[in-house]
Amino acid sequence: MTPGFYARRLQAPGAVLAPMAGYSDAPLRQLAAEQGALWTVSEMISSRGLVLGGESEKLTLGRPYPGEEGRVVQLFGAEPDILAEAVRRAETWFTPAAIDLNMGCPVPKVRGRGGACLLQTPEVAYGLITAMRGATRLDVSAKIRLGWDENRSVEIAQGLAAAGASLITVHGRTSAQRYTGEADWDAIARVAAAVPVPVVGSGDILTAAQARARRREAGVAAVMIGRGAVGNPWLFRALATGDDALPPAAGRARTALRHAELHVAFYGPDRYGLASVRPLRKVLPRYLPDFPELRDALVQVDTVADVAAALSPLLEDAVPLPAPVAVGAYAGRRP
Ligand SMILES: Cc1cc2nc3c(=O)[nH]c(=O)nc-3n(C[C@H](O)[C@H](O)[C@H](O)COP(=O)(O)O)c2cc1C
Repeated sequence: MTPGFYARRLQAPGAVLAPMAGYSDAPLRQLAAEQGALWTVSEMISSRGLVLGGESEKLTLGRPYPGEEGRVVQLFGAEPDILAEAVRRAETWFTPAAIDLNMGCPVPKVRGRGGACLLQTPEVAYGLITAMRGATRLDVSAKIRLGWDENRSVEIAQGLAAAGASLITVHGRTSAQRYTGEADWDAIARVAAAVPVPVVGSGDILTAAQARARRREAGVAAVMIGRGAVGNPWLFRALATGDDALPPAAGRARTALRHAELHVAFYGPDRYGLASVRPLRKVLPRYLPDFPELRDALVQVDTVADVAAALSPLLEDAVPLPAPVAVGAYAGRRP
């Protein structure tokens, strides 16, 4: 049997871009993929919305950027028939590399219909995985938290693997914890040791050194990086190539400007006809944390021209964009 997508990608060193609603959209995924992310995961997409909604093939949450590959589409839901149909539609419309089931979102509107709620009724999730597997030949995976309000992650991960999940990602917090406290990597390690499929660990990784230590100590197949990768796609480069050097400020500023350009290229004009980059106000300062004097201007941008103007003190140096990195580009011994 030819190995599935996850098994193939896990042959190379590197890290995975986390699904983050409101952040891991096509432009952020493109920047992460260009810097060597093993794969990226879309923002979560409602299975009901996909199946019952109207113009869903145009849904920006699922739409790839031109040439996108290595992108996993994440679905949430709680009904096997709807999820199976959502898998079929997602496969046709969004050309994903694999499909992931969201079992971690603690947001109230998502509870009740799936997300972390499934951690309270894991047998429902096992049925969902079986139904999703039946609808596609792509790998189907699940992303869990440790549990709802207590750690049941080993039992749940074993059940998901038995139901046919090809890979399990574990965010080392319970749903009740939301994002407070620290991710429990000892608990992630216990899951990695207990299931027969690859486990990806998620939670609180901010540097390449931390990522390497977590991967080694927890015995996970790879680490996933979310918040730490916003404004820092070079974390993926470091983990794919072994070169930890951060680009100079001018290179980071060029990338921030490119993020804005990719944003308008992907989303086009808003309903007022403006090619707005407002959603990037929360992202752009993260490229240049060492330039707090630029922050005020960056959190007020409306257009690409505003971004260029805000970054102009740094863009005067003609530094090229950091070069792209291919998965599997690691030069030395695997870390
Ligand atoms: C703003 C935000 C949105 C998120 N959206 C999702 C989501 O759509 N699906 C999901 O499985 N996890 C989601 N997560 C959880 C992340 O994928 C990740 O597991 C978590 O943030 C811990 O990793 P980090 O410390 O590297 O960010 C989200 C996290 C944040 C901060």
